[in-house]
Amino acid sequence: MKPMVLAAVLAVAALPVPAAAQPQAPAGYAPGLGEIMTLTQVRHLKLWFAGDAKNWELADYELDELKEGFDDAIKYFPTKDNMPIGQLVKDTALPAAEDLKSAIDARNGAKFAAAFDKLTAACDACHQATNHGFIVVRRPTANPYANQSFAPKK
Ligand code: HEC
Repeated sequence: MKPMVLAAVLAVAALPVPAAAQPQAPAGYAPGLGEIMTLTQVRHLKLWFAGDAKNWELADYELDELKEGFDDAIKYFPTKDNMPIGQLVKDTALPAAEDLKSAIDARNGAKFAAAFDKLTAACDACHQATNHGFIVVRRPTANPYANQSFAPKK
């Protein structure tokens, strides 16, 4: 690039961005299914540690976030690679999420654990149905989020 042109480009790049244009995602931005799933993995893990600690408020919140991810999957991926992702979410994950909601509302640790395992099985049922059977989720054994307290507020 010629120095004059480069200088012009740099000058334009340095112009302040109008406030209204700042934090918005570009028009037409949609998350990939892998991105949605990576966030789903985080919520699945946090949900477990919230329920395990009997922090029902946090568990309820994480379940809501998980369901928002499923809603995004339905919205953005009715089908992907000829697979009915949206319908599979409705058939596998959503019913399992409802059971978890009941367990959380009842503040019942045993029901929560059973419903969590059922959700986890639903995750993998879909991974198998979509030729991703090599993705296997499970109850987490250790919590990597050391910067967040999962204990219920006293
Ligand atoms: C509708 C079917 C479906 C359901 C339900 C589902 N998944 Fe997935 N999952 C997929 C597909 C398809 C992929 C591969 C996405 C891609 O190709 O980018 C995937 C990928 C993943 C990955 C790999 C992400 C990465 O990039 O490493 C994880 C982890 C994952 N899912 C966790 C979960 C968890 C946890 C649940 C349940 C709470 C769940 N999934 C429910 C279909 C599903």
